[in-house]
Amino acid sequence: MHSEAGGDAAAPKRLFIKTYGCQMNVYDSERMADVLRPLGYAMADAPEGADLVVLNTCHIREKAAEKVYSEIGRLREMRDEALEAGGPRMTIAVAGCVAQAEGAEIMTRAPAVDLVVGPQAYHQLPELIARASRARGDRLAADFAPEDKFDALPVARHVGGPTAFLTVQEGCDKFCTFCVVPYTRGAEYSRPVAAILAEAESLAAQGVREVTLLGQNVNAYAGEGSNGPATLAQLVRRLAEIPGLDRIRYTTSHPRDMGEDLVAAHAEIEALMPYLHLPVQSGSDRVLKAMNRGHTADSYLKLIARIRAARPDIAISGDFIVGFPGETDADFEATLQLVQAVGYASAFSFKYSSRPGTPAAAMARQVDEAVKSERLARLQALLEAQTRAFNASLVGRRVPVLFERVGRRDGQLIGRSPYLQAVWAEAPTALLGEIVEVDITAQGPNSLSGVLAGDAARATAQPPVRPRAEAPA
Ligand code: SAH
Ligand code: SF4
Ligand code: F3S
Repeated sequence: MHSEAGGDAAAPKRLFIKTYGCQMNVYDSERMADVLRPLGYAMADAPEGADLVVLNTCHIREKAAEKVYSEIGRLREMRDEALEAGGPRMTIAVAGCVAQAEGAEIMTRAPAVDLVVGPQAYHQLPELIARASRARGDRLAADFAPEDKFDALPVARHVGGPTAFLTVQEGCDKFCTFCVVPYTRGAEYSRPVAAILAEAESLAAQGVREVTLLGQNVNAYAGEGSNGPATLAQLVRRLAEIPGLDRIRYTTSHPRDMGEDLVAAHAEIEALMPYLHLPVQSGSDRVLKAMNRGHTADSYLKLIARIRAARPDIAISGDFIVGFPGETDADFEATLQLVQAVGYASAFSFKYSSRPGTPAAAMARQVDEAVKSERLARLQALLEAQTRAFNASLVGRRVPVLFERVGRRDGQLIGRSPYLQAVWAEAPTALLGEIVEVDITAQGPNSLSGVLAGDAARATAQPPVRPRAEAPA
């Protein structure tokens, strides 16, 4: 292991990263911290007084992208005040999908920004920071070449608990007509199996019990294995053999890429958790076609039926867009019908947001904002009722919970059920990082509560005897 101090032990620099958007950005933020740590950067919990602030941005909807510019404004004021008070000059960096999509625009619109770095260039951060401090030109790095990035990132990761994200695939070739991701993240790229196994083993060695495999189209995974490209199901099988790695999840999947071996894996691999995020976007075939989704409502429902045949208790989650250009009342009703037919355990739903440069932005018959709002409210009411029903179905059941962190109230721990719901219970901190049987007693709006069951309850009646290795801070 390398020493963290480098030449800067006397004056550690403070790094604040603000993360927007999807889990892929959460993972990338952690990796940026890994890259900067050897340079003496330690994580701060707030931007005030930080030497370097990175905004890891999201471009998916207009609101997400606009937030960045207001945040830059706030940071600029903070920097000016700090400079007036004689403090060090804060470096402001914009990373992520807005950096990729609007790099040049950021430079002109927000001159306070010192450097702009796209998602495939994070390994170049140290060099970019050095360059930015020397000159105010040359501030943009936004090439596409994910293999360089992954090869150049340090293998060792710093983890803060028993769960971790692990990016296995990046980019998208699907070109849904509403979506910016193929432009911000580039073409589909899968990391080789060996690199993923090495990273997962290092995570498990640090006490990680649950890993979530990430990709914009994670089930399109086709990374190099020992005998040609491996499927996601094959990768999951290898990961499940790593001692200590008891829970495996993956997100986000595309209905088109859901291979039968992955469906079967849900029946066969115990470590693969019974939760699947499988966005459908709409229940109308006409809209699905205009979206270029490559599946129909019926093919999606048949797929869900095959998945449920393999794993009857699986929790299904999805994403929906209302008000796609040309969406009629009848199209929207078809979406409600599909939701009724599936029965979602959780879901994310959005009003269509026109994104510059995407084909849908130029489509005729854009839907009125008021109509979008009304449809979204109806859809969300239905989805929320389904989530409540799913959560209620767990009350009275005993489920294994991986305790991840302490709760807000004294003596409580919070973890997750196999179905990804947050579960809290009175439990000693010795159970952090442990998978414990919990009897679910009640449901709240966003979580379940329960009491330790059987052995765990008995064991906690005595002081804990087995010391646990502390996770690195
Ligand atoms: N790769 C994933 C989704 C990534 S984006 C997939 O294909 O499922 C996450 C979600 O944001 C999408 O599923 C979609 O529901 C939503 N989204 C993407 N572009 C959008 C847009 N222009 N307007 C509104 N919602 C959008
Ligand atoms: Fe976007 Fe479609 Fe690709 Fe998902 S599959 S990232 S929605 S283009
Ligand atoms: Fe947003 Fe980029 Fe993720 S646009 S949703 S941060 S891939």
